[in-house]
Amino acid sequence: MHNDIERIVVTEEQIRDKVKSAAAWLDEKFAHTEKPLLAISVLKGSVMFFCDIVRAMTIPVQLDFMTVSSYGSSSQSSGIPKIVMDLAASVKDRDVLLVEDIVDSGHTLVTMSELIKGRGAKSFTVVSLFDKPSRRQVPVSADYSCFEVGDEFIVGYGLDYAQQYRNLPYIGILKREIYENK
Ligand code: PRP
Repeated sequence: MHNDIERIVVTEEQIRDKVKSAAAWLDEKFAHTEKPLLAISVLKGSVMFFCDIVRAMTIPVQLDFMTVSSYGSSSQSSGIPKIVMDLAASVKDRDVLLVEDIVDSGHTLVTMSELIKGRGAKSFTVVSLFDKPSRRQVPVSADYSCFEVGDEFIVGYGLDYAQQYRNLPYIGILKREIYENK
């Protein structure tokens, strides 16, 4: 698996540092909420980031999960995110934190934002590990992004290519030969 990586762009240590800063920002922002913050992981890409960030927070948090898929096994977004698994909890009157691994075209974020606000959330905040602004098709952004990345094919720490490489502990650029001519 490591042999398929051209180079590492974000190390485990850099991830740890950014997770700590993002968690501190959230602790402060939601220090005085009435009910515990409802943190939602957008599966599957955000799973590693989500687990690390909620463990780094010190305020009361409840967890929920939603599986949204837009890429299938291709490297290009279809533009139509599909809800594969919905939330278990009600978001009505709740402070909701959405945790994403990457905001790319922005379609997933728009879909999630409309859905959660439409269900009556009290507030909606988005934290994303990566922002890829050069690929944006709709004008949205996370409230807090840890890293900005160019139009490079990154994998690891939750991010996949054809459902693989999510378990790399760092973020790396995939060798072109892996995804070209497939
Ligand atoms: C990826 C990623 C984001 C979304 C961002 O998910 O995890 O949720 O795409 O892309 P967008 O801004 O173009 O909508 P994907 O659909 O690949 O599913 P996954 O999380 O299971 O990898």
